[in-house]
Amino acid sequence: MGITSAHTVSPAMRALLAAHFSGLDPPPIGRGPRDLVTTGRAIYQEGVPAANVPACSGCHGPEANGRREIPRLAGQLNSYTKIELAEWSKKRGQNPLVEGPAAAMKPIADSLSRAQIAAIAAYLSYLKK
Ligand code: HEC
Repeated sequence: MGITSAHTVSPAMRALLAAHFSGLDPPPIGRGPRDLVTTGRAIYQEGVPAANVPACSGCHGPEANGRREIPRLAGQLNSYTKIELAEWSKKRGQNPLVEGPAAAMKPIADSLSRAQIAAIAAYLSYLKK
């Protein structure tokens, strides 16, 4: 054990392990799972009508570049977008006096499911910064 344990992995086992890890196809640092991008794009561009969630593109822009007080979302870190949306009320929604477009984000964030948030975050993470 210890020092010699690596040598107990046979070449065949090593090949299997290598195939396993390359098959996981990890996304680049800061990006979300590629297989969520299509769903994320649909939510971003069209919203979730059934949940009264408007299209994100309506405010943040079709390319998520933002404008004036509306922040840019394109190229944002996957984990950052996920946390901000999932914990919106906890982190920013405390002040009921805040009005205007910023106030519009609270019901939007609160209406998104974890799966929808994950898809949106993945989509945004692949857009050009
Ligand atoms: C009515 C306009 C509007 C719509 C629609 C809208 N947003 Fe926003 N969003 C804003 C504004 C304004 C802010 C800035 C809020 C603040 O600074 O507190 C913001 C902030 C954000 C942030 C935080 C960005 C950062 O850098 O911290 C995220 C993430 C976000 N929006 C995602 C979305 C997603 C995803 C959707 C669609 C499901 C969406 N927004 C729809 C107006 C909008």
